[in-house]
Amino acid sequence: QQLQWFQRQVLDWYRREGRDLPWRKTMDPYHIVVSEILLHQTTVKTVQPIYEKFLDTFPTIQDLAAAPLEAVKYITDPLGYKVRGSWLHQIAQTVVNDYAGQFPQTLEELLALPGVGRYTAGAVLSFAFGNDAPIVDTNVNRFIGRYFGIEYKRTNAEIQHQLWAVAEAIVPTGQAREFNNALMDMGAMVCTARKPYCLVCPVSQSCIQLQDDGVRAAEERVQY
Ligand code: ADE
Repeated sequence: QQLQWFQRQVLDWYRREGRDLPWRKTMDPYHIVVSEILLHQTTVKTVQPIYEKFLDTFPTIQDLAAAPLEAVKYITDPLGYKVRGSWLHQIAQTVVNDYAGQFPQTLEELLALPGVGRYTAGAVLSFAFGNDAPIVDTNVNRFIGRYFGIEYKRTNAEIQHQLWAVAEAIVPTGQAREFNNALMDMGAMVCTARKPYCLVCPVSQSCIQLQDDGVRAAEERVQY
């Protein structure tokens, strides 16, 4: 009941306020992988033009697999974190050579691709194949961490495991694509790192972090 309310609020908010990003217009797993690997540790604004240029230059995964690595790195290296060019190149070669150009659709097979971790695998499963798979990036980490009262700032394995388990448990059946995008936008636009916009947050009334902060603020006031 409570969970359904949370899902509804987040999805309704996303339909009103969600960002219209180029990689949200596609369900092509090749495009999704390119976008997610480029977005890793890089802002949406920086990635957008490079994403377009990348797909203009290598329209299909076969084009990418056949290109010289230098041609790939020429486009991706300016973003920094330069290993991404060779990851994308190797992924393309693996998918073309071992999977006849069709992306595999299981978590295990996706995780075996170069540079693909749980995050990128979750993006492919939910955004391209519509599976009810979770995806936790820093924005989702912070939003669900605060809302469910998990110590999200700790990076130890136990906390991370807990956050992934929560993210998996809250995906509404058949709506992972919209919902995961909604969680990302909530983290990026409302539940921001420095100063969250709780006044416009559609789920603030039951946010554990906000309740705790409210109590703390009240305790501080009592001292004066
Ligand atoms: N950051 C990482 N993946 C993203 C996505 N799919 N949309 C927006 N920001 C992102």
